[in-house]
Amino acid sequence: MEEARHSPILLREVLEYLDCQPDRIYVDGTVGSGGHARAILTRSSPTGKLIGLDWDEEAIQRAQKNLAPFGKRAELIKRNYKDLSSVLENLAIGAVDGILLDLGVSTEQLEDGTRGFSFLRDGPLDMRMSRELRITARDLLQRLSAVEISRIFRLYGEERWANRIAKAVVRRRQITPMRTTGELVDVIKKSFPSRSGRIHPATRAFQALRIAVNEELQNLQNFLDRCKDLLNPGGRLVIISFHSLEDRAVKNHFRQWAKGEEGTPPFFYLLTPKPVVPSSEEVLNNPKARSAKLRAVEKIFEKTKGRKDGGSDL
Ligand SMILES: C[S@@+](CC[C@H](N)C(=O)[O-])C[C@H]1O[C@@H](n2cnc3c(N)ncnc32)[C@H](O)[C@@H]1O
Repeated sequence: MEEARHSPILLREVLEYLDCQPDRIYVDGTVGSGGHARAILTRSSPTGKLIGLDWDEEAIQRAQKNLAPFGKRAELIKRNYKDLSSVLENLAIGAVDGILLDLGVSTEQLEDGTRGFSFLRDGPLDMRMSRELRITARDLLQRLSAVEISRIFRLYGEERWANRIAKAVVRRRQITPMRTTGELVDVIKKSFPSRSGRIHPATRAFQALRIAVNEELQNLQNFLDRCKDLLNPGGRLVIISFHSLEDRAVKNHFRQWAKGEEGTPPFFYLLTPKPVVPSSEEVLNNPKARSAKLRAVEKIFEKTKGRKDGGSDL
């Protein structure tokens, strides 16, 4: 296996909350290069199975290479995780024992200048994680009004200067359409009142555009609305998010499931009343981990409505 520079985010915690065991089936909905997946397969040896999804062809190829030693125990599929129910249906699997989502962009995607995710590398204004998506960052910046662009920067990037940047984008595209990340960085830098700031001036706008291009919140919302039936009783769902809007969606769904719905008893147990965050040591080794939040739930056994391990806390 190609050695990753960092170990996968919150790895120990993921394994603990997924409670990996042999003879069970796990789904990694955002398999990336297969870092978490490899650990899940190792932990669930010798018979645990893992279905890994990613909608990026290149990620699937990396995962295939990295997980090859596990043979048929690992099945990798290029697909949006929001379509998990139809993926399982095609595999004739009714429900699984654990699902992991590690949301957002991977280091490999970020560092590949040709994908357009990074403000530090000049490349095409693309930002699609899946090449099957039709709208690129360039399309959004070319077609949307200043008000719509500003809304994206504000909502998904909490960018204070959203209006100024959006207006500058529209002025710039009246001259010629923007094609590269470098051109966008220039526009952003020029619309900032001063260069003094803790982070690169393009950080928030780039994050916001990426979230919009990939419809990241809609995918998560869709998945959360439909995933409950895909877990066996005792099965666990673990989600790592990096954005406050994502974390809020996960928190609200999990709380609702743990409370029960309209007269029915709760059917999920909240394993993480508060989000689990990386240790300061992990953040020091991997700065990308600094905004990670992990939340986990366990589906309650239908018959007993109790936890399979008797309710002890992790
Ligand atoms: C942070 S990386 C995951 C890294 C992985 N956990 C590992 O250990 O290598 C996120 C991955 O999720 C994928 N992804 C993001 N949204 C997705 C979606 N809606 N459907 C499928 N894959 C998605 C990205 O393409 C990326 O490869």
